[in-house]
Amino acid sequence: MRLAIVGCGYLGAVHAAAMASLGHEVVGIDVDRAKVESLSQGRAPFHEPGFPELLAQVQGDGRLRFTTELAAAREAELSFVCVGTPQAPDSQAADLSFVDAALGGLLDLLVDPADRTVVVGKSTVPVGTAAVWAERFAALPGAVDLVWNPEFLREGFAVQDTLSPDRIVYGLPPGESGRRAASALDEVYADLLAAGVPKIETDLATAELVKVAANAFLATKISFINAMAEVCEAAGGDIYELAQAIGLDPRIGRRFLRPGVGFGGGCLPKDIRAFAARARELGAGEAVEFLGAVDRTNLRARRRMADLVTRAVAGKAEAGLEGYRVAVLGAAFKPDSDDMRDSPALAVARELARRGAEVVVYDPAAGPMVRQLAPELQVAQSLSQAATGAGALVVLTEWDEFVQLDPDAVAGLVARRLVVDGRGALDPGRWTAAGWDFHRLGAPSPLAAKAVD
Ligand code: UGA
Repeated sequence: MRLAIVGCGYLGAVHAAAMASLGHEVVGIDVDRAKVESLSQGRAPFHEPGFPELLAQVQGDGRLRFTTELAAAREAELSFVCVGTPQAPDSQAADLSFVDAALGGLLDLLVDPADRTVVVGKSTVPVGTAAVWAERFAALPGAVDLVWNPEFLREGFAVQDTLSPDRIVYGLPPGESGRRAASALDEVYADLLAAGVPKIETDLATAELVKVAANAFLATKISFINAMAEVCEAAGGDIYELAQAIGLDPRIGRRFLRPGVGFGGGCLPKDIRAFAARARELGAGEAVEFLGAVDRTNLRARRRMADLVTRAVAGKAEAGLEGYRVAVLGAAFKPDSDDMRDSPALAVARELARRGAEVVVYDPAAGPMVRQLAPELQVAQSLSQAATGAGALVVLTEWDEFVQLDPDAVAGLVARRLVVDGRGALDPGRWTAAGWDFHRLGAPSPLAAKAVD
């Protein structure tokens, strides 16, 4: 099929390449000329495992091109809208200006009575957005149907999640328009559906809500375990043993119960805020009041992490950190990504610098972004450069390079064997056996525990 993808960020660029790999003829459209040039030359504008290879493969096959011209969507049988919905600068609500511009642009374009096309929203939007646009498209002289087909891909697994998703959700307008759109989408996703990916057909509002409810649930799970970590600390318990024990109940499950510095990125934080803001507009604010607590618990984890480092390094949480060199390992909001949006790692690194520490950051992919965003931080080219002379190693993004790090090998570089694991990613036994003073939130330091024994 001929597909247009409007918006070529993490979601759109990967969707475009993935759809081309399924055999469709795809044009990716973005207003950012530099991004279009980079993608056209086969260069991924962001770090995403497997994406450069997929891009090269489909461009070699001649099935994928990129342009800044929205008019290219006129040729498409389906146009996917994959633009961002960041948090508005002056409120907790979503900024819909990119969605409005993309859908408004398509609305102005598809004015010929002969136009037969499906507009597919993939962006995460406040419930009610799709219905408004569906009406506007329905009023066009041709047959232009609007559906909502939310995306659930995770950064770092974007290719895999696009080509083997857990589920495909169609939010359809009622009647003939919905039936036409569903059969067009069935054709787009034919290979995935044939492979057994579950499909759920529902109305527009439910499809919009499925997306934000999923992200709200994931955020709640993370904040729940971080809240338990706070209680463990107050009571002398161990959050890691607690998480393991409750996670063995299949109704609870082990995933997304990893305590630490909390969630960040371009999705979970802004989505829970926008969800709560929209629910308030709808008069259902009380139902999702808990999301405010989820958000606060999450942000508190950043401060608690900075306090833990300060206590470990300087003896007490209120101390200044002047004269201490701290190596921060990881800056991206999660491993296998260079995305710095609302990154807990960057927030903690900056807070340590604000408290007076000389902070040297090493991230396998996000170093150049750190330089741009936080000039007060030093950026190392390698882990060993960051560790050299450091009074503490602080792991804030669990890149495999850090998880696999040999504590004996790095011991010779640092000024002091002190490690703070902000992601519960290191093996405390291994590090303490190598003579390191080991700290993490919600669990007594193994050395302290030994002293008590
Ligand atoms: C999230 C959702 O997982 C996707 O399903 C969704 O499609 C996407 O948002 C989106 O709305 O576009 P993503 O932001 O890529 O995906 O990252 P996650 O894997 O969800 O991680 C989010 C944050 O939670 C990261 O900072 C991660 O380090 C943190 N996290 C995750 C924890 O602190 N503990 C955990 O146990 C798991």
